[in-house]
Amino acid sequence: MERLTSTPEHLERAAALLRSGGVVAFPTETVYGLGADAFDPAAVARIFEIKRRPRFDPLIVHVADEAMLDAVACDISPLARRLIARFWPGPLTLVLRKQASIPGIVTAGLPTVAVRMPAHPVARELVRLAGRPIAAPSANPFGYLSPTRAEHVERMLGDAVDATIDGGATECGVESTIVMLEPSPTLLRHGAIPAEEIETITGPLARELSAESAPLAPGVLPYHYAPRTPIRIVDLVSVAPSERVRAGALAFTAPAGGYALERVLSPAGDLREAAARLFGYLHELDEAGLERIDAQPLPSGGLGAAIMDRLQRASATS
Ligand code: TXA
Ligand code: MG
Repeated sequence: MERLTSTPEHLERAAALLRSGGVVAFPTETVYGLGADAFDPAAVARIFEIKRRPRFDPLIVHVADEAMLDAVACDISPLARRLIARFWPGPLTLVLRKQASIPGIVTAGLPTVAVRMPAHPVARELVRLAGRPIAAPSANPFGYLSPTRAEHVERMLGDAVDATIDGGATECGVESTIVMLEPSPTLLRHGAIPAEEIETITGPLARELSAESAPLAPGVLPYHYAPRTPIRIVDLVSVAPSERVRAGALAFTAPAGGYALERVLSPAGDLREAAARLFGYLHELDEAGLERIDAQPLPSGGLGAAIMDRLQRASATS
């Protein structure tokens, strides 16, 4: 595995790997992605193998500009164009009708394709230099905590990838928000752009976030984003001192005290800061050999919805 940085030479090297069927982990503004040429079914198949991801779970395709978008998707509605004008580049993924040239392995056989234009300069430059759309799920083993640092990728996937570009910690810390527009505007995954912001353009979004919506968003499974250590959502003040000794805590604004290891997401109660730190702290807590992790519930408005979604799936047991 090559360790690369964001210098022009290294990005050109990573782009060359992608052009020749390689698999490269790279930073985006949300989480680290595991990328391959979206037009190369064999390269995309390697992503599924490396992640041990079920083939029914389609990938997000990353584009650098609108010309690339048109190579990936067709019949783009005026409403989709308005969302693109407002939120791209950025952490909004749109589910659109796919072009015939996108291989079925990318979309798990669906007639639609999930597309986004990342805002992170490294991600965007990499896709531009590769000269083709890049299919990239999060760079973690299927079902496990998402990576927000290059070290997370290296620890979880190691030598299985051809190269990892180290771009430091990601800014948002939670994945993109996924919206489907046909037949009607629907939220498929809470993410880095709060649903309320998207609704200023789309009007009220239907919600299809549960496991029952499997055909629409196959990857949105109840058990996901999970550490190996058992995790539960609980008001920390209600936990008895004796139960804290061998456990870890993920607090929101203030430590509860008495835990073997405790991390505070945002002393100021800032949900952006909390989202940015979420997975990094969960990785740390998971590495600490604790009996259990207790996570404080957060307010569910704005970015709180995306954070609580991740915690709920992480704590689901099936
Ligand atoms: O922020 C992000 O979106 C990150 C970075 C790397 O861009 N990527 C990411 O990918 O989160 P992944 O594979 O972990 O999540 C992709 C989600 C899956 O839940 C999948 O079900 C959904 O996108 N998806 C992909 N194609 C779809 C489609 N055609 N229709 C509905 N959902 C789709
Ligand atoms: Mg993922």
